[in-house]
Amino acid sequence: MCEHAAQLPLSDLPPGAVVRVMVGDEPVAVCNVEGEVYAISDRCTHAEASLSAGSLEGHLLYCPWHAAAFDVRTGRPTGPPADRPCATFDVSIEDDTVTITLHNKTTDGF
Ligand code: FES
Repeated sequence: MCEHAAQLPLSDLPPGAVVRVMVGDEPVAVCNVEGEVYAISDRCTHAEASLSAGSLEGHLLYCPWHAAAFDVRTGRPTGPPADRPCATFDVSIEDDTVTITLHNKTTDGF
């Protein structure tokens, strides 16, 4: 496994769960939304709270500090206080293994 990828067992990520993983130096929140897995930066763009400590409601991940919500599919915030998107990352699943890679990092055009 290179420093730009990390893995975790899918069985550790049931629907509705958010798990923080480190991909190299990058903290990533890995989210299971009804069986679909998404990876988003674990640093809120408002004041860098750990989003994995927040709550996942549908596709929205709520920051635990000031309640900004980010769409885990795109990284876009739904409104203030965050005004910049979080990066999202590639996810692949094979058997029971989830792999997150950083090389296709997106910022959704912001
Ligand atoms: S740190 Fe996330 S909304 Fe303020």
